[in-house]
Amino acid sequence: MRQEIRKKIVESNLNGIFELDKGKKSIYFTKNLLPGEQVYGEKLIRQGKDEFREFAPVNSKLAAAIRQGLKEFNLKENSIILYLGASTGTTVSHLSDVTKNGMIFAVESAPIVARDLVFLAEKRHNIAPILADANKPEEYKDNIVNVDFLYQDVAQKNQVQIFLKNLPFLKKGGLAFLAVKARSIDFAKKPEEVFQDVEKELKTHLTILQKIDISSFQKDHCVFVCKK
Ligand SMILES: C[S@@+](CC[C@H](N)C(=O)[O-])C[C@H]1O[C@@H](n2cnc3c(N)ncnc32)[C@H](O)[C@@H]1O
Repeated sequence: MRQEIRKKIVESNLNGIFELDKGKKSIYFTKNLLPGEQVYGEKLIRQGKDEFREFAPVNSKLAAAIRQGLKEFNLKENSIILYLGASTGTTVSHLSDVTKNGMIFAVESAPIVARDLVFLAEKRHNIAPILADANKPEEYKDNIVNVDFLYQDVAQKNQVQIFLKNLPFLKKGGLAFLAVKARSIDFAKKPEEVFQDVEKELKTHLTILQKIDISSFQKDHCVFVCKK
């Protein structure tokens, strides 16, 4: 469904992310690479010659992090991304809007959801779907070049180890975004304790730029934004 609105959508201070200013409850968007096409039932909004796709915090941990004050997001139109835990491609599709001349290597281990990812990649030229286990990067290392941005959202017990195993793909100076689901790591521990353990481990490999609590949108989740 496409809607016409009166207030103006403007580019936010994050590259490729657009905003309809509503104070603390701003609504975020990406500019649709394929005007007229929805990916997962998101709202489409027309403004002049552009069409925007709503990027809502309930649908994506990246959008939740943006709403909660993400500061660093230096993606460019030609950025290269390694995305671990792509699922059917909800967040991948928004990154594909942002990096329209780049490439997203989208790794997903579950064949059923990867099927939808393949359909998405057939329409969007900048998505390369990879059916693989992110815990075994040696299986896809020959298909990937060094990347500007590493994004992970896999909700596994060993999610930090998976992230670290994939770090060699990230260029020096590149940005890494890790969504941590505390209950997947240790169900018995308080989420904040799990996040502190993760922080300690990450600090030995990367510079942590931001730790963002997104639990108001995604239960027991926190996001680490890091630089290599
Ligand atoms: C929470 S969902 C990801 C949602 C997605 N990031 C988004 O925002 O659109 C987690 C996904 O990670 C995948 N996954 C879990 N373990 C994985 C692994 N070891 N390698 C690759 N994908 C994995 C799951 O199959 C699932 O599709």
